[in-house]
Amino acid sequence: MLAGKHVLLVIGGGIAAFKALDLIRRLRERGCQVTPVMTNAAGEFVTPLSVSALAATKVYSDLFDLTDEAEMGHIELSRAADLIVVAPATADLMAKMANGLAGDLASTVLLATDKRVLIAPSMNVRMWDHPATQRNLKTLQSDGVLVVGPDEGDMACGEYGPGRMAEPLDIVAAIDHALSDGPLKGKHVLVTSGPTHEPIDPVRYIANRSSGSQGTAIANALVGLGADVTFVTGPADADDPVGAKIVRVETAADMLDAVTAALPADAAVFAAAVADWRVTSASDRKIKKDANGALPSLEFAENPDILATVSQMEKGRPELVIGFAAETNDVIANATSKRDRKGCDWIVANDVSPETGIMGGSENDVTLITADAAEDWPRAGKDAVAQQLAERIAATLS
Ligand code: CTP
Repeated sequence: MLAGKHVLLVIGGGIAAFKALDLIRRLRERGCQVTPVMTNAAGEFVTPLSVSALAATKVYSDLFDLTDEAEMGHIELSRAADLIVVAPATADLMAKMANGLAGDLASTVLLATDKRVLIAPSMNVRMWDHPATQRNLKTLQSDGVLVVGPDEGDMACGEYGPGRMAEPLDIVAAIDHALSDGPLKGKHVLVTSGPTHEPIDPVRYIANRSSGSQGTAIANALVGLGADVTFVTGPADADDPVGAKIVRVETAADMLDAVTAALPADAAVFAAAVADWRVTSASDRKIKKDANGALPSLEFAENPDILATVSQMEKGRPELVIGFAAETNDVIANATSKRDRKGCDWIVANDVSPETGIMGGSENDVTLITADAAEDWPRAGKDAVAQQLAERIAATLS
């Protein structure tokens, strides 16, 4: 799988830089071309000569090296590879990437690239746990950066915990996965997920019990099949999917705007539990209790139906539009008429009555309703349901 591929390897300045030498060897053994870029700090841990000898090519390190610019400009360097791998990805490099800094060759290449980026973080456990690093990690994941590790264990600094760079063979596996040509390669799939929050005033809102876990599982499965995924999510409890572009929204109106902005897409999966109503005029101040005990009353307006809007687009409608139907009774009948009413291609129907434990739980029991049939899928984990759906999407789009 790796034979004939080209990886640009950015080596950061951390104690784990020595493992980058083994990583180069493992990649080359598999027929993968490696172009190394070293930060100045990396040169304190491994010598450019060792790196160059193992990679059997020149090492790039200086942004202002005129010879490099004549041979290969930093923009070209950032685009020539199939994948950029940062190993070790130090706290400093992650901070630079998350904030778009470009003060040296490594960070400039990372900012200029149009290729996918995989990072293998490596740092002291306190640096890893620091809110700044965790914030940067979230930002990078939202930008679609792939992450492998870090592992937990004894560290070179004498402490114990997460922060050790993933082992070279695990990084090779992650590279292999990132470069594999899944059936959805080149396809853009949009996924909505999570609940929406509709404000009543600055401190109160109307929401629902959706955890976002089914949406995350679907996005992960689609990424696994090679799709470019845009994940538009309300405030969800579930982890973010890995390798998707993440767009965070609060309200149904924001979600519609984000979905429209993310089009065109080859397919769209509407897994979000969008609030049907919003408070007509949310107060911009906290609503206070009335001194005489009068109760507040809320007036509602209907939210835009995002699934119906996209399903009925005259121009730019995705080839495949999939909705969900959360029902508590007459599941198949309600979901079938929902499919007709909204104009989507498929509806994934599920029974969200409290006794099923589905809303907020780890399993799902769905019926896929298409134009021709209602297929009952066996109750399974949300990951398995997501995988089955993603494979079905891949079979339909190809
Ligand atoms: N949906 C949407 N925008 C809305 C409401 C729902 O995009 N404003 C989408 C959901 O993401 C889901 C599908 O429509 O894919 C059905 O959602 P569901 O809550 O089951 O149906 P509703 O349209 O809300 O209808 P009802 O509440 O009457 O069952």
